[in-house]
Amino acid sequence: MNASRWDRLLLNATLATFAGDAPYGLIERGAIALHHGRIAWVGRMDALPDAPDTLAFAVESLDGALVTPGLIDCHTHLVFGGDRAHEFALRLNGASYEEIARAGGGIVSSVNATRAASEEQLFEQSLLRARALLADGVTTLEIKSGYGLDLDTERRMLRVARHLGRELGIGVRTSFLGLHALPPEYADRRDDYVTLVCDDMLPALATEGLVDAVDAFCEGIGFSRDETRRVFERAQQLGLPVKLHAEQLSDLDGAALVAEFGGLSADHLEHLSETGIRAMAAAGTVAVLLPGAFYALRETKLPPIAALREHRVAIAIATDCNPGTSPLLSLRLAASMACTLFRLTPEEALRGVTVNAARALGLSDRGTLMQGQRADLVVWNARQPAELCYWIGGGLARNVYVAGELVSRRKPSRRPPSAS
Ligand code: NIG
Ligand code: FE
Repeated sequence: MNASRWDRLLLNATLATFAGDAPYGLIERGAIALHHGRIAWVGRMDALPDAPDTLAFAVESLDGALVTPGLIDCHTHLVFGGDRAHEFALRLNGASYEEIARAGGGIVSSVNATRAASEEQLFEQSLLRARALLADGVTTLEIKSGYGLDLDTERRMLRVARHLGRELGIGVRTSFLGLHALPPEYADRRDDYVTLVCDDMLPALATEGLVDAVDAFCEGIGFSRDETRRVFERAQQLGLPVKLHAEQLSDLDGAALVAEFGGLSADHLEHLSETGIRAMAAAGTVAVLLPGAFYALRETKLPPIAALREHRVAIAIATDCNPGTSPLLSLRLAASMACTLFRLTPEEALRGVTVNAARALGLSDRGTLMQGQRADLVVWNARQPAELCYWIGGGLARNVYVAGELVSRRKPSRRPPSAS
């Protein structure tokens, strides 16, 4: 017997590795071995070093099923109290997102509901949403604070985010979004609130180990460039990476600001300028596109996809799951929307929810199927990668592994019609 047998070996898989430049990094009739939470071997089945049964304790043939890296949702506001379904109705009747926000609805109404919720209530409500994402193939999830806007509630949100990761056995990265909206109690004291965020909230939460990155909403109805710069400077002092909600509704040149700080990502970007793109390209800042918000707000201005391509800015796609502008619980649907609404190719969209999403979170141990990476992967009820963007809904994820552990499973099922 081989003493160093792998834990598990999956055979006869269609592997979309997203490693290298070949389309999807595709390997047909592939094999992938999982061992001690990592990918121990990946390649063509006929290149395996020995007979499968001698190589691993558990051997499973996938009969041609597609395997991808676990999907990574790199921008969510998944932890919040209540919902904003009534605002959806108001917008359908002609009110704009900005009008609703300025009238005291919008983010602030979720702040009220989140402040009123206990940690247990927040956890229970958010768990349903996280489960939905996981069931659709998400193995790493970024979750922002920003519906507390006071130290206690921001802490509660971030604790709930971490708890969700432990409960579901998935990766969770937290971003502190103190500069999301001005809390009502600071209505005439903007500067004092920014000072509170920079001098009290951020350092306290960072010390408690609750913050992986710092985000802000740089926008007319959010915070100015100068205010954003203040929180970025504090993040830098604390050694925390930054990212930014930038150029969603207007161009405040936020992308260039986050790039100046070597930021991980600039997100939304419908109003991104050529200057912003150049700055992002030079800094290696990822462009995170959020088609769910574009769709729900019925936006018409497209992000500058062609220019992003031309300047070789890496593009990621995320759900932006939030109660106001993107109540979206499927990252695969976000990828589908990125194709249909933004004209990304299926390959670009899928790189956007795997390898480039990992980059947007500063994670180098996941996002591809390569030897040594964390064994985060999904076996799909599909045969070709493009199907993941093509099928709209329908529960395609069959088995979801995180660090080699099976964390979500659907009964062995019929394949989608075309693949039968
Ligand atoms: O990413 N733009 C700011 N933040 C969220 C929306 C939050 C909300 O409306 O509750 C976004 O779209
Ligand atoms: Fe957002």
